[in-house]
Amino acid sequence: MYTSKISGLGYYVPENVVTNDDLSKIMDTNDAWIQERTGIKERRHIKKGDGNSTSIMGVKAAKIALERANVTTDDIDFIIFATLSPDMYFPGGGVRVQDMMNMNTIPALDVRNQCSGFVYAISVADQFVKTGMYKNVLVIGSENHSGGLDMTTRGRGVSVIFGDGAGAAVVTRSEEKGSGILSTHLHSEGAHAKELSLEGPSTEHWVPEIIAENPQEDIPYYPYMNGQFVFKNAVVRFSEVINEGLQKNNLSAADIDMLIPHQANLRISQFVQKQFRLSDDQVYNNIQKYGNTTAASIPIALTEAWEAGKIKKGDLVVLAAFGSGFTWGSAIIRW
Ligand code: UT7
Repeated sequence: MYTSKISGLGYYVPENVVTNDDLSKIMDTNDAWIQERTGIKERRHIKKGDGNSTSIMGVKAAKIALERANVTTDDIDFIIFATLSPDMYFPGGGVRVQDMMNMNTIPALDVRNQCSGFVYAISVADQFVKTGMYKNVLVIGSENHSGGLDMTTRGRGVSVIFGDGAGAAVVTRSEEKGSGILSTHLHSEGAHAKELSLEGPSTEHWVPEIIAENPQEDIPYYPYMNGQFVFKNAVVRFSEVINEGLQKNNLSAADIDMLIPHQANLRISQFVQKQFRLSDDQVYNNIQKYGNTTAASIPIALTEAWEAGKIKKGDLVVLAAFGSGFTWGSAIIRW
């Protein structure tokens, strides 16, 4: 068995900044409510015509990750693309990345695990690298939420939370024992699938257009979230799955140098931070700037933390996520 490590990271967010005040002009909400309940100050939204899509943002993030990993597209053996908002209903984003980056006819796999998508994708990459099947796996998490949200007062409980963006990592074979991705831990509980879900169609047929054509009151084409129920489950599952990872490696919370929680809600991250008695320096949050970018949130945060010099060789880095499905997971990494 080989070991696997993250050898390069990158992220991309659209330039268009949407503040809480901007949202309060189009729906009944306000900066105080949004900040108090979620910690979010602003998020990025793709602007129609700015040339971005889920896969295009993924490619932008991937190019940076490849450069930092010091590999070329020819070195990549496998693409794993995590998203809940693919460009098309099918095929997924992975094949579009393969095409846009002029890659060889390597396999491309899409992971549909919403907020846990990146952790699931890292786990898949880790297995392929550790068994020796692949040497370099490109893992992308990317989301284009903005065009499909209900931007009226009816949708305010969901639409103020989500933002667009992409993050990417190269997972590479390594010979260094005891470092890299030590273990990953994945779970699901489909009984709660509808508590955070979107029953409607794909992102190339945007919801507002469908509604204009089919005016009706109860619309399944927008994301639905039972916020308080999701919140209560999130805090429990985050803690469980972090503990599971620590125990598996005979580690304790005191060993964590950097926790990168999925950016669902600043209050959830703060709750988890308190439970594990971590200092502000041991947890990285950027939901204030980007909102919840679902599968992209962990790779964006991980990249930012790394760029800021907050992650150094030898550090114990923990990734943890919870979201729609419900699905949740963690990854324990010795950097
Ligand atoms: O990433 C995947 C996992 N996702 C999560 O973990 C999200 C978990 N849930 C949450 O983060 C929180 O439940 C929310 C931030 C979504 C909502 O916060 P909350 O404290 O649970 O608020 P609530 O839904 O209970 O709503 C409280 C009040 C309601 O008004 P009434 O009934 O008390 O009069 C809502 O209508 O706040 C109202 N409200 C808003 N007001 C202003 C809901 N959304 C808004 C809004 N602006 N955007």
